[in-house]
Amino acid sequence: ENLNVAIVGATGAVGSKILEKLIERKFPAKTIKMLASKRSAGTEISVGGQTYIVEETVPESFEGIDIAFFSAGGSISRKFAHEAVKRGAVVIDNTSAFRMDEDVPLVVPEVNPSALKGHNGIIANPNCSTIQMVAALQPVKEKFGISRIIVSTYQAVSGAGSEAIDELGEQSKQFEGRSSIKAEILPSASADRHFPIAFNAIPQIDLFDDSGYTLEELKMMNETKKIFEDQKLAVSATCVRLPVVTGHSESVYIETDLNTTVEDIRSAIESASGVVLQDDPSSQVYPMPLYSEGKDEVFVGRIRKDPNHPNGFHLWIVADNLLKGAALNSIQIAEELVK
Ligand code: A2P
Repeated sequence: ENLNVAIVGATGAVGSKILEKLIERKFPAKTIKMLASKRSAGTEISVGGQTYIVEETVPESFEGIDIAFFSAGGSISRKFAHEAVKRGAVVIDNTSAFRMDEDVPLVVPEVNPSALKGHNGIIANPNCSTIQMVAALQPVKEKFGISRIIVSTYQAVSGAGSEAIDELGEQSKQFEGRSSIKAEILPSASADRHFPIAFNAIPQIDLFDDSGYTLEELKMMNETKKIFEDQKLAVSATCVRLPVVTGHSESVYIETDLNTTVEDIRSAIESASGVVLQDDPSSQVYPMPLYSEGKDEVFVGRIRKDPNHPNGFHLWIVADNLLKGAALNSIQIAEELVK
């Protein structure tokens, strides 16, 4: 117990999970400082019989801090991450602010722990949808190689923060009037137009790029290549928001380099750490987001061969986006550093 830890965005959907998981995993923290905006300074948060008082985030907050977890949005990371590093902290950043910077490792501990070696004080936690996909595909890639990935996501609202969870909760009560529900947050707080998420599916997560892809889709595409250290890997994504509270699902099509079988892919996944095979169609066993909530693992099922391509396979990948997709992966990065 020798580390001074700070959580920036401690009152948020991910920040609160970081605190819970630090305690649950007995992370060697001497102190945990809860940081958020001025609005919530003074708020008390009680977890595990202990009460933490939230403070406003200022540059001086990071004096004496060893590890700072950031999960308060990209602009806050851009404003404070370097202040934290300057004061001697290692920053583990959950936002997209630094992920593609060349000197910033982008890490999923089961996939590329060695990327941590060259860090300059900031380590990026990948996008939630990227993390669960690469964690599940790593054992397949290791054994058979992967040349192409086409992914469609079915993402939960908690990935858009606690206001988006509240918005789904409110809208879900309006079954009779569902075609005239008013929306303020989703698909993205900064978008020009908003659409209801209840009783709907929104094919927009984050804003659009000139390419016609959304930034969320581009994150999945670019981050996957960086984590797998394979710029030639063909990856394309379609990201969709659904009225699910927590748990992202993904329909993933892959083409392997080597000829293989569904059975061999299943056993590769079964022997990987952090990944659980739930694949028995005859008993209706397959992963679902409702039952992945609160779980640390990435769940994989519906593995089947594409009838049109000799090396094509489909998989269904589900994980808790706030845990493996965010808080848990960040803490696993910290644990890797402490080792
Ligand atoms: P606050 O509760 O004070 O607004 P979520 O991802 O669930 O929307 O949470 C966002 C997190 O980011 C919250 O903890 C929020 O704190 C925090 N946050 C928002 N603006 C700032 C800011 N200017 N400085 C520090 N933290 C911020």
